[in-house]
Amino acid sequence: MLNFELTSEQKEIQEMAMKFAKNEMMPNASEYDLKGEMPMDILQKAWSLGLVNTCIPVEFGGAGFSTIDSMVITEALAYGCLGMNTAIMANDLALLPIVIGGTSEQKEKFLKPFTESYKIAAFCLTEPGNGSDAAGLKTTIKDGGDHWVVNGEKMWITNAGYADLFTLYGTLDPSLKHKGISALVIDAKAEGIEVGKPEKKMGHCCSDTRSVTFRDVKVPKENMLGQPGDGWKIAMKTLDHSRPMVAASAVGGAQCALDHAKGYALERNQFGKPIAAHQSIQFMLAEMATKVEASRLLVLKSAWLIDNNQPNTRLASMAKSFASDSFMEIATDAVQIYGGYGYSKEYPVEKLMRDAKLIQIYEGTSQIQRLVIAKEVLK
Ligand code: CAA
Repeated sequence: MLNFELTSEQKEIQEMAMKFAKNEMMPNASEYDLKGEMPMDILQKAWSLGLVNTCIPVEFGGAGFSTIDSMVITEALAYGCLGMNTAIMANDLALLPIVIGGTSEQKEKFLKPFTESYKIAAFCLTEPGNGSDAAGLKTTIKDGGDHWVVNGEKMWITNAGYADLFTLYGTLDPSLKHKGISALVIDAKAEGIEVGKPEKKMGHCCSDTRSVTFRDVKVPKENMLGQPGDGWKIAMKTLDHSRPMVAASAVGGAQCALDHAKGYALERNQFGKPIAAHQSIQFMLAEMATKVEASRLLVLKSAWLIDNNQPNTRLASMAKSFASDSFMEIATDAVQIYGGYGYSKEYPVEKLMRDAKLIQIYEGTSQIQRLVIAKEVLK
């Protein structure tokens, strides 16, 4: 039976997350954006409310959230601040490979600590020379007898400077292309790991983004997820799970931009009446609202497919590309509706426009999503 209603539990989670977004995140978003600093106290509070690491299954200490529950939370937190939400989402991105490819022992060992105190994780796939072409990664994993040895450089790693744990992808044999890729769980304090300086970014300024260099880093044999060569499939399945979440964050940001634009349009007078009474502005708001609604439906369907154990690669990429492209358009229109004030850092839509841009880029650009969709359509 088709039902567009959230359950009463989901409405409660949504209300709690939205309250946190409005009371804790929004009032501090601009300050941390300007400082370019991770708001550790706010993130810690989000964790203590159960809003972080929503992917951890209940048997390993998680809250037992469904994927749709996670989307509801993500949309609300992104409404509060895209940068803070990125720091929160990056934990799920890094823990999902363990949820997807780990044994029970690995899940117990690596996931449980994240439910006992606030810890930070980072997903290490991208490299300086390999972003979209993830299978071309150069980081090597060599068999060192009773351990693995990792060498290579990762780039644009969210949370890297604060991480307790990395999930890393490297190759055992580059000639095997994606079939040579393996995934390792690595203690972020291991010898031989060097974390770079924080990148100075256009948006998501309060999230931490750095390079990470691995020089002869020894990793216990039992830290490999799956078998040697399973890393690529684990990475792709992780992205199938995480892309709807990124899309949900786009919906949260877009809803926020729409709400601000609507509020401003109702109070700003030009030519003797509120600008909301001008049809040119009404058409913009109508387009914006339609795109938010369509994006949300794609997010929910892509999450529903995961919850019902059905393939979601096509829908995940549709949700990610449509919602992020829509968010960029909606945020740009919100700035336009604000006019000169929209261009000022004194008003919130300027930050939303900068933040929207990254959603079209990370976890697979909008162009990569179209490539995935086209492959699925042509199958
Ligand atoms: N699930 C399972 N298997 C999959 C899969 C999926 N979703 N997608 C592909 N595969 C399999 C294919 O079936 C194929 O398997 P076989 O060898 O058995 O035939 C294999 O993987 C190779 O597939 P492709 O030929 O399609 O691979 P490709 O090299 O052409 O590229 C790609 C695939 C989709 C473009 C991939 O490289 C990709 O997603 N690129 C974007 C990378 C990305 O999203 N990076 C984000 C980094 S994380 C981040 O941004 C967060 C941060 O911290 C900032």
